[in-house]
Amino acid sequence: MRNYIIFGPPGAGKGTQARKIAEALNLTHLSTGALLREEVSHQTAVGQRVQDIMARGELVDDNIVDGIIKDKIENNGQVAGFVFDGYPRTINQANHLDVLLAAKALPLILNLEVSDDELVRRLRLRGQEVGRADDNEETIKNRLLVYKQQTQPLLNHYGDQKRLISVDGHGQVDEIYQRLEAQMN
Ligand code: AP5
Repeated sequence: MRNYIIFGPPGAGKGTQARKIAEALNLTHLSTGALLREEVSHQTAVGQRVQDIMARGELVDDNIVDGIIKDKIENNGQVAGFVFDGYPRTINQANHLDVLLAAKALPLILNLEVSDDELVRRLRLRGQEVGRADDNEETIKNRLLVYKQQTQPLLNHYGDQKRLISVDGHGQVDEIYQRLEAQMN
């Protein structure tokens, strides 16, 4: 089994690159953001609980996302591996994932490094073109702040464990993918 975490701030290209990696290696792509947005669009009990939190750009409770991920891993026992996108985002989530995968294969962390100016540019653009609810000026600002305060510290955690690879996330989608690919083999 091969597992990867695509890591980086909002707008770094996690989803874009995770889809490419999953397709190329026949892995299962798991995006907690996409799974949560699905809950919101179906107005499930979870969706109703997280809707406002996501609209503000805050993190949803660890328990909720841990439960979603556990469920997906346990119900996909036969897959070749997973590409985690947007998970984990806290030390508790990271520890939870390691416990779930310990008997299989601990994931390698692929971190996309992108400047704040470029992140804001990409998210504003998507806000105009696609209209995702959290791609507005105020929420973009808060998402970047929440990332720096609560998620970025995971880089030291994984760095200490020698499981972290960082690549330049600027440029064309395909050239970034090639940089990642070069590090994955
Ligand atoms: P989530 O959906 O994970 O959002 P995010 O981290 O803010 O990331 P984005 O989807 O905005 O960006 P991305 O890095 O995936 O880049 P993408 O490829 O889309 O989470 C949303 C919310 O859900 C969170 O705020 C939180 O509330 C909640 N949540 C999710 N997971 C959670 C967890 N584990 N714990 C607690 N709460 C959680 O690209 C962005 C844009 O840039 C796109 O338009 C894309 O086309 C474009 N783009 C991509 N690559 C390039 C490139 N190289 N050049 C130019 N444009 C590019």
